[in-house]
Amino acid sequence: MSTLQAQDVAEVFGLGQARARLRAVPGGHVHRMWRLDTDRGSYAVKEMNRQDNPEWMPWLQAAWRLELAAWHARIRMPEPVPPPGGGVVAEVPVADGPPATVRVHRWVNGRSISQPIDAIVGNWAGRTLAALHSLAMPAEPRWAFPPTGTTEATRWQELVELSKDAGAEWGGDLAALAPVVEEIYDLTQIAATRWLPDVLTHADLRAKNVLVAATGPVLVDWDMAAAKVPREDLAGCALSVSGWNQDDGPVRETLRQVIAGYRAAGGALERPLDVVDAAGDLGNEVDWVAAVARRAIGQGAQGPDDMERSAKLIPGLIRALPNKLLAARSLRWLLADQF
Ligand SMILES: Nc1ncnc2c1ncn2[C@@H]1O[C@H](COP(=O)(O)OP(=O)(O)O)[C@@H](O)[C@H]1O
Ligand SMILES: [Mg+2]
Repeated sequence: MSTLQAQDVAEVFGLGQARARLRAVPGGHVHRMWRLDTDRGSYAVKEMNRQDNPEWMPWLQAAWRLELAAWHARIRMPEPVPPPGGGVVAEVPVADGPPATVRVHRWVNGRSISQPIDAIVGNWAGRTLAALHSLAMPAEPRWAFPPTGTTEATRWQELVELSKDAGAEWGGDLAALAPVVEEIYDLTQIAATRWLPDVLTHADLRAKNVLVAATGPVLVDWDMAAAKVPREDLAGCALSVSGWNQDDGPVRETLRQVIAGYRAAGGALERPLDVVDAAGDLGNEVDWVAAVARRAIGQGAQGPDDMERSAKLIPGLIRALPNKLLAARSLRWLLADQF
């Protein structure tokens, strides 16, 4: 249990007097989120899970540069509250343990949404991506960003054996995914040899990172910013927010509105999107399925709770992967008359 205190956060970030304890905010995927209320206003306080690798801080710093540029370009997002001293994060003392690594934004009153999202919000998502891509921020330092694609595809059989040995009920279903995984792997190989130029982008414009406020949608969670080819960023976003996981396919109107919004806001798209544009994200999905499967059988899990959560999650993820590939394959005809 964290014992991060509201007043300590308020003091470190210069936010006045705390009015109440920190309140836990649900919906985070990676870190712990709190709401802080002070006499100056309300704030979203993110207690970061520190990563123990040399890429982490340069990556966060690049993400922060993008976030500030996006804020100045008036992209709809929570106002970032800079930490004292000009870095990205601040260390906030915690009475009975190591200091917490914290980032702060202004609180946005909005509702969470899930995929498939409304076509209107889809249009906003497309416009937002166009605005981000037009910043044309170089993805530097290149080594700091996570690679796209998959590292798990080529050892799928090994994972299947491990799962079966562990007695996982879904071992057979994992085995049955092999042709899907192989096709995705082949697509990532094709995508990698196109050598298209990339930019620094939010890279995670998904329903989970959108809040719909009274004044419209806002984009949260800028920490995962990464190098992406603009058309691939667009394809991944459009497929995800329109519900590529669904058994009955993505919502066509949402998908189309993402593309329409992108082009209306000046996003360049010379050729129609196709399945290869989704390869990187599909590869990441393969690795996500594998990571959750591994955690479900105890590999890399953070305790029994994590194992249990992963075991609950994995059947749905296995079921969704072929849907995602199918949706990506149908990009061309779903968007045919838009090009
Ligand atoms: N500025 C904010 N105001 C209000 N709620 C926020 C704000 N930022 C994030 N949230 C809420 O907290 C959740 C987790 O935040 P997020 O930045 O996505 O964390 P994580 O990196 O853990 O995914 C979001 O899905 C959203 O519901
Ligand atoms: Mg998030």
